[in-house]
Amino acid sequence: MVFLEDAEVLKNVRVADGIYELACRAPQIAGEGKPGQFVHMTVSPHRSTTSSPLLRRPFSFYGVNAEAGTVSILYRIRGLGTSLLAEARPGEHLSMLGPLGTGFTLPLAESPVFPVESSVPPTKSCASPIQGAASPQEKAFSKVEKGVLPAKSTVLLVGGGMGIAPLVYLADSLVDMGCQVEVFYGAETCGELVALERLEQIGANCHVATVDGSAGYKGPVTDLFPFLPPKTSPDMIYSCGPLEMMAHVARFAKERGIPGEVSLESHMACGVGACLGCAVRLKSTDEGYAKVCSDGPVFSIDRLEFEAGEGERNES
Ligand code: FES
Repeated sequence: MVFLEDAEVLKNVRVADGIYELACRAPQIAGEGKPGQFVHMTVSPHRSTTSSPLLRRPFSFYGVNAEAGTVSILYRIRGLGTSLLAEARPGEHLSMLGPLGTGFTLPLAESPVFPVESSVPPTKSCASPIQGAASPQEKAFSKVEKGVLPAKSTVLLVGGGMGIAPLVYLADSLVDMGCQVEVFYGAETCGELVALERLEQIGANCHVATVDGSAGYKGPVTDLFPFLPPKTSPDMIYSCGPLEMMAHVARFAKERGIPGEVSLESHMACGVGACLGCAVRLKSTDEGYAKVCSDGPVFSIDRLEFEAGEGERNES
């Protein structure tokens, strides 16, 4: 169900140069919002009467607290809209529409625990298979292909820049479900690793790369894949960030036979599938185009057509 709420700003703080975290009270949206979904919101509080941009802006959930009735987003100032948003003060109100879109596939909380691989000892989070429920890994993968990820899976999250935002809420949910969460987090520089502390508090195992080498590995975050902890056999890979990075992720997933999902960013006018302004080309010519706002923003990684050359350049 989608709600339109007059969301009260609780905090709107600068967390890095040009990057802000906004938290609002929006209990109906918070009660329904899933990882990977987004809100479409006005960027100027009601006090503004002259310079408010006409269009709403889409922002993925960075965090949701259903009990407290709060949602948070992470955003970078890119233009007039986000500049106005940075001026919102606690106590002011923003019109928020959501939750919108299709989110990430999550493990079934009640599904049996599948062994990671018969020839490889189970990882720590998968060390307690339910007696009598042991099944071959092929069975687990067939369930993933049907959109059912086994409980307590080992998952890789690959985020670049602001693409880390939806992965933080996802990581929080996955850790709660008992998954082993390995996060590969790339940014331009140390100061832009704004979600690192939160990810570590959540309990994710973080692998960091920066373009300038000021933190972690110097270079593309995808270079770190070979440094996965030994015996880690991922059941699923999730990614959000630059297209070049996600093209690398898609190639890695294909080579390793790992199912995956990516969250796409797009300019959006309506946000609800009515204007066709967010169309993205799918891999199969039979499928044609999909709408990021309503068919996505999360797509199976093997459905997307990455442009020629993407995945060939360095990024993080
Ligand atoms: Fe209008 Fe997606 S933004 S169809």
